[in-house]
Amino acid sequence: MHTSLLTTPESKSTSAARFLWEMFVNPLDALTNLARENGDIAHVHTRRHEVFLLNHPDFIEQVLVKQQGNFVKGPALQRARLVLGEGLLTIEGDAHLEQRRALQPAFHRHTIESYSPTMAASAQRHISAWQSGQQMDMAEAMMRLTLDVALRSFFGHIPEGAGERVGASMRTLARLFPLSMLPLPAGAKKFFPAFRRASRDLNSITEALVANPNSGQAQKALIQLLRENPHVQFSDEQIRSHALTFMLAGHETTALLLAWAWDMLANHPEMQCTLQAEADRVLGDRMPTAEDISNLPFARSVVKETLRLRPPAWAMGRRAVKECEIGGAFLPAGSVVLISQWVMHHDPRYYASPEEFRPERWDYVSERSIPRFAFFPFGGGSRVCIGETFAWTEAIIVLALMARRWNVRSVSGQAARPKPGITLRPKNGVQVVVEKR
Ligand code: HEM
Repeated sequence: MHTSLLTTPESKSTSAARFLWEMFVNPLDALTNLARENGDIAHVHTRRHEVFLLNHPDFIEQVLVKQQGNFVKGPALQRARLVLGEGLLTIEGDAHLEQRRALQPAFHRHTIESYSPTMAASAQRHISAWQSGQQMDMAEAMMRLTLDVALRSFFGHIPEGAGERVGASMRTLARLFPLSMLPLPAGAKKFFPAFRRASRDLNSITEALVANPNSGQAQKALIQLLRENPHVQFSDEQIRSHALTFMLAGHETTALLLAWAWDMLANHPEMQCTLQAEADRVLGDRMPTAEDISNLPFARSVVKETLRLRPPAWAMGRRAVKECEIGGAFLPAGSVVLISQWVMHHDPRYYASPEEFRPERWDYVSERSIPRFAFFPFGGGSRVCIGETFAWTEAIIVLALMARRWNVRSVSGQAARPKPGITLRPKNGVQVVVEKR
């Protein structure tokens, strides 16, 4: 027990060895148990850091918003620099503020609306290629679809073989992710040959994305802003890092959101019927447009409930750059702070029957009836996800288009098991059979 750090009665310390082992074996259970046993603030004293898990929305708000200047990204994202370089996810301080402002126009609402025909056309192309009765891994299918959308929207073209190569590299990096938990110096990991290969392949795809003189013909927004920005002159290295970040962050999380949504819908046929009826009524035979988004409230609730129950970003880390105090606990400079969407989104204080998939709960749980940070799938504060509106728009368009055309049935009749890595992936994919309606 480290009482000098903890002054509130509800905060307690827990054994470092047990916590680290449980984090290695099953991080979702490790964080949930830590929260259950220790309350709103849990403290673990490891050999390298003081670690705090904050389990109250007000304390999460302190880290992400009110005291955000006291924190930088945690060790996992700092290591992600090995792959991503100095992109928007990984840079800090004034450089982050300046570059975020310079890139923000690519994510304004009207720009996102201009992406929606690309989203709809791409989704329609992918789902029209399926055969009735076909068994497939919906997680793989959604990765291909959302990568296609991201590359066409942000860069206007798709380099040869990009889908397969990005998929394979991402699988390698996800497989190697547990290594990031080991106490190796950050630089050591780049010497793993599989890591080096995956990273090199991602770089060569990014170079092709950026180099193509025709890139950005279809939708000029992002690539144009990287090349000729009125506020910031990006170096070639910065352009590469930003492009790689947008390629990866812009498709993987949305693909997982859609894969998990179909896992839920395949196991809840009655909800699938409701979604189909809404898509039929609103779209009829035509393609969805940006204006349809607000007329598809059930699709929106499905997306929201999926983000609650299976948040693709399941935990985030920060490191305190100076000592600070949160909820009566004293955090020395250098402390690692964990906040977990998985833990908070399953908290029975805010969600009745938290394990159940109930899209209709959002009819009566409004954003105002729960604290702001009881639901934070996209983070918050100045580091909030820049692609949130893009993700909502894409997810609703894809769900509606798919529901209009296909019945999706679970192969096993059981929900897929979550496997937490960099993101929350389904352990063995989402195995389904699609049947034409
Ligand atoms: C369901 C889909 C998505 C989820 C759940 C998600 C989640 C998140 C979260 C939690 C963060 C904050 C990370 C932190 O503070 O440590 C973040 C940041 C970010 N996301 Fe997303 N994201 C999604 C889609 C997207 C899309 C579509 C894009 C690109 C268009 C994108 C690009 C980014 C970038 C560049 C950042 C860093 C922003 C900054 O620090 O200024 N994300 N995302």
